Amino acid sequence: MKKKLIMMTAYDYPTAKIVDEVGVDYILIGDSLAMVVLGYKDTKSVTLAEMLHHTRAVTRGVRRSTTIGDMPINSYETPTSALKNARLFLTTGCDMVKIEGYKPNIIKTLIKNGIKVVGHLGLLPQTADVYRVQGKDEESGNKILSEAKLMDKLGINLLILECIPARLAKRITESIKTPTIGIGAGINCSGQVLVLHDIIGLSDFQGKMIKRYGNVTQEIRNAVTNFKQDVLKGKFPDKEHSF
Ligand code: KIV
Repeated sequence: MKKKLIMMTAYDYPTAKIVDEVGVDYILIGDSLAMVVLGYKDTKSVTLAEMLHHTRAVTRGVRRSTTIGDMPINSYETPTSALKNARLFLTTGCDMVKIEGYKPNIIKTLIKNGIKVVGHLGLLPQTADVYRVQGKDEESGNKILSEAKLMDKLGINLLILECIPARLAKRITESIKTPTIGIGAGINCSGQVLVLHDIIGLSDFQGKMIKRYGNVTQEIRNAVTNFKQDVLKGKFPDKEHSF
């Protein structure tokens, strides 16, 4: 069996360092940071400056994984703006940029200029009004499949498939040479990605596609509660922690 590719999000230096040390193929500085760490209601509100700031923090902590800067909404509307802004991403030290949707002219321009591109099809949070599974009927499924094939021909490096039926993701993965990375797209993709804060229990999001592997919210709550209690009771700082 072919080794599965692993992608994980990270948005800051300390978590990027941990994820990189664990050893994953790709670290995505996703625009999901809008909700997960900046408290916006969706990914439509995050700015280019905010994305660049977080991407820079992540690349400072990464030694081994390939890093992917996620171009936010309105930063790649024309080939000219896409190229200018993708180059800004590269100044942060990231290795590739990700764009949402089927945008052949943008993809062609970036690749022609030596920029590695990660595609993203299926549920596209930058333009979706509601988050729901995409490509369920034959027509919409075939559209995603044909766009995936065209993007593959253009030479993208990776393709993220978000919230599509597992059988469609399998068909796409078997039809193209670009590796596919699934999120809510079943077991038959070339690899999988989830949002770090979702798997560690540090976000409010609870989709069917998410599996929780930790409860960092409770860890933080316990630590802060214990610190508060120690200070209120006069137990901290003790001799050991005083000069
Ligand atoms: O922004 C993000 O984190 C993403 C992943 C969900 C693929 O696009």
